[in-house]
Amino acid sequence: MIAPELSPTLTLNGVHVWKGWLTPDAQASMAADIAQVAEAAPPFRLTTRWGRQMSVEMTAAGRYGWFSDRRGYRYVDRHPQGTEWPPIPASVLAVWRELAGTERQPDCCLVNRYREGARMGLHQDRDESDFTQPVLSISLGDDALFRVGGTERGDPTRSVWIGSGDVLRIAGAARLAFHGVDRTRFGSSSLLPGGGRINLTLRVVD
Ligand code: SIN
Ligand code: FE2
Repeated sequence: MIAPELSPTLTLNGVHVWKGWLTPDAQASMAADIAQVAEAAPPFRLTTRWGRQMSVEMTAAGRYGWFSDRRGYRYVDRHPQGTEWPPIPASVLAVWRELAGTERQPDCCLVNRYREGARMGLHQDRDESDFTQPVLSISLGDDALFRVGGTERGDPTRSVWIGSGDVLRIAGAARLAFHGVDRTRFGSSSLLPGGGRINLTLRVVD
């Protein structure tokens, strides 16, 4: 069964935003689950296809993780250390069941770690094979200025501050919307040891 639609707090260029979806307790236990993922699959910094090192550290859970180098962007079934990715935590899958609005299960939970000064340029999530499937994004820790445009790079953009426990769904007509993180407010949250922000994006890859 697909869970009944629960109204988002706001919608930004078609991207639904549920503010404060996770209680502080739920955020803390999810952060602990993700710390275990990071222990099994240590975060690393990738290089874009243009040869620039990304400021965000990444790792993943599930069947696939995301990878980037001079050859381009793709999903890979192993961590660079050669091991399989750890399973997606149950706490994270529960949010998918509540808000993704699809019968399919995610096969990748990408973990993005924003330390002080990290950001993510405008991009589309388009390395998956079925764009009828949503991308669900869960934020933990510091506030982030999230920007979303249209499906063309030059389309006008809007931005909103996203906080810990907020969940976004990038789906439907907005599935291929350009989006990114301009900056974070480092130190605005004390949820994560060492500070900063973690963003989880859940995707159906195959
Ligand atoms: C992403 O687009 O992969 C990350 C978005 C975010 O950090 O909120
Ligand atoms: Fe993205």
